[in-house]
Amino acid sequence: MDGSITAMLRNKIWFVFCALFVFWFLLLYGFDWSFLPGLATISHEKSIQSLDPNSIRVTDNHEGKEDVTSNLMNATNFGVDNSGNTTNAVAGTKEKKFNDWSTEDEVSEDVDDLEKELEPIFLKDDANREKEEQQNKCRGRYIYVHDLPSRFNDDLLKQCKSLNKWTDMCQYFVNNGLGSELGNPAKIFSRTGWFNTHQFSLEVIFHNRMKQYECLTNDSSEAAAVYVPYYAGLDVSRHLWGSNASVRDSDSLSLIKWLRERPEWDVMWGRDHFMVAGRITWDFRRGIDDDNHWGNKLMVLPESKNMTMLTIESSPWNSNDFAIPYPTYFHPWTDNDIVQWQNRMRKQKRKSLFCFAGAPRPNIEDSIRGEVMNQCKSSNRRCCLMECSDQRNKCQKPVHIMKMFQNSVFCLQPPGDSFTRRSTFDSILAGCIPVFFTPASGYVQYLWHLPRDFNKYSVLIPEDDVKNRRVSIEKKLSQISKSRVSAMREEVIKLIPNVTYADPRSRWQKFEDAFDLTVKGVLERLESLRQEMEEGKNASLSYDEEDSWKYFTFGKVDKHEWDHFFLRADRSKYY
Ligand SMILES: *[C@@H]1O[C@H](CO)[C@@H](O)[C@H](O)[C@H]1NC(C)=O
Ligand SMILES: *[C@@H]1O[C@H](CO)[C@@H](O)[C@H](O)[C@H]1NC(C)=O
Ligand SMILES: *[C@@H]1O[C@H](CO)[C@@H](O)[C@H](O)[C@H]1NC(C)=O
Ligand SMILES: *[C@@H]1O[C@H](CO)[C@@H](O)[C@H](O)[C@H]1NC(C)=O
Ligand SMILES: *[C@@H]1O[C@H](CO)[C@@H](O)[C@H](O)[C@H]1NC(C)=O
Ligand SMILES: *[C@@H]1O[C@H](CO)[C@@H](O)[C@H](O)[C@H]1NC(C)=O
Ligand SMILES: *[C@@H]1O[C@H](CO)[C@@H](O)[C@H](O)[C@H]1NC(C)=O
Repeated sequence: MDGSITAMLRNKIWFVFCALFVFWFLLLYGFDWSFLPGLATISHEKSIQSLDPNSIRVTDNHEGKEDVTSNLMNATNFGVDNSGNTTNAVAGTKEKKFNDWSTEDEVSEDVDDLEKELEPIFLKDDANREKEEQQNKCRGRYIYVHDLPSRFNDDLLKQCKSLNKWTDMCQYFVNNGLGSELGNPAKIFSRTGWFNTHQFSLEVIFHNRMKQYECLTNDSSEAAAVYVPYYAGLDVSRHLWGSNASVRDSDSLSLIKWLRERPEWDVMWGRDHFMVAGRITWDFRRGIDDDNHWGNKLMVLPESKNMTMLTIESSPWNSNDFAIPYPTYFHPWTDNDIVQWQNRMRKQKRKSLFCFAGAPRPNIEDSIRGEVMNQCKSSNRRCCLMECSDQRNKCQKPVHIMKMFQNSVFCLQPPGDSFTRRSTFDSILAGCIPVFFTPASGYVQYLWHLPRDFNKYSVLIPEDDVKNRRVSIEKKLSQISKSRVSAMREEVIKLIPNVTYADPRSRWQKFEDAFDLTVKGVLERLESLRQEMEEGKNASLSYDEEDSWKYFTFGKVDKHEWDHFFLRADRSKYY
């Protein structure tokens, strides 16, 4: 009798203790103090300063924060002392972050008491469970990174002065490939996170992001995917103009030879391998061994056909390459930087109906650029135009581009030398609704990053209608109702994190960035390839490779209203 009353009392006291503890714990760690402007800027600056600019390690601050928040997700983990490392991590962060808070001592005493009291109640094998959770989190997501000879990546960075015939690329490789910091002199950007990023820097940025990936492994037998950190675009860019075909191919061929000699190749004949080539696919698809044909032949080699090749523009007619977003100028450090930017773009006043930044293509017979620019010029101030023809052009300056896009409701994205444009991602970043003229510019490209429901975030005006002057762009855009425009813009703004590459030195907690979505897409693709191989099936036999765009976008190759966009007379002529 007495015993059970005491037990009840003890239970009550424990309950009060527990509640108090949870309350304090949440107050200290669960609550996001960073929304207070003063605190947010201080902690942000600190973490940047404490970093060596060349290092890609996350600061203790960031890692600690993640530990604490993930533990808070699970109430049963509170204060349980399992003599594991979590408690140490929590205590460590506490010391670093809150050591001058007077409440801290009281709280830790309570914690100590509670830990002892609660230990027998909760399961004892929490340490094991955590280890298991980590393994569960990474199961099927481990990535093995090939340790390539430096001539395939780092040495190319050292040659930055001679990589490009016209531009010194060195300025673009600082800050882990993000380029030099832009600052915010004209108040067009946010205070931090903006860089002069080159459109062809993706392979460097991606590699540096991969170094931070949470499920890396050195045991290739455990890996779901093998990443090949070859800077294919930087390699070929040295030889695109003036070199003969064998010079252009030479490093790609030796990379492939190197890969085939690894034991990892034999596991799936390279089908579990992937790489990023930060230029458009046409720079790597020379079908004919002739010096006069463009590019090298990296993507048409039999080995590459087995791999998953990621590029900023993929071929609609081939099945081994997948497009991922061009890098744009914003590489935020935290989720909060993204949210603040999104809110600012929501409130932005937009005085122009539509705008275009680019140059005409007089040498391309079918180009609609000239007509688009004419329509813009004659639209009586509702369209703003930034001509990129002359050398001292404003188009090279991120501040001019971003200012114009932020001021406009729609941003025109007509094809140029190829289907896609980096400008599409600049415009999404500015909350400006992209207007496409062919589905090849986006809809069949960025399958892992753009929503399938195209009308929700963009407008399609068929290029033939523009070419034949059957359509007034201004009329077409001004007919869209105000409420639809708002809904579309909101969708565009929601897309910003999905098409943004986070600063490789940071780690977001809430949003997935373009890198995360890419890794997810690759892993899902490899998973289904594995399944196919196990079942002895071969999906690529079920459709003509020419229909790849349709197969990957819709999962079937039936007749489609977009077919006419993808007709080409000569299959060996790539673009
Ligand atoms: C919380 O812990 C339980 C086991 O105690 C586990 O099954 C569950 O997945 C955990 N939840 C989270 C969000 O970690
Ligand atoms: C805890 O950390 C130490 C090094 O700090 C490590 O040797 C040990 O294996 C870790 N224990 C667990 C359970 O992860
Ligand atoms: C893999 O091995 C390298 C060199 O031995 C080491 O620096 C790295 O931390 C290891 N990575 C993992 C995920 O174990
Ligand atoms: C290609 O160019 C390189 C360097 O200029 C030269 O050594 C080589 O002989 C050329 N190859 C062919 C097949 O013309
Ligand atoms: C590509 O994969 C197939 C099996 O899927 C294999 O038969 C072929 O040898 C591989 N090609 C190369 C070059 O390894
Ligand atoms: C962005 O990606 C997330 C997954 O991280 C997804 O849930 C969300 O729907 C995407 N946003 C848009 C607007 O497509
Ligand atoms: C599937 O068929 C294609 C085309 O014949 C072939 O190139 C590829 O190696 C096959 N894939 C597998 C996994 O056997």
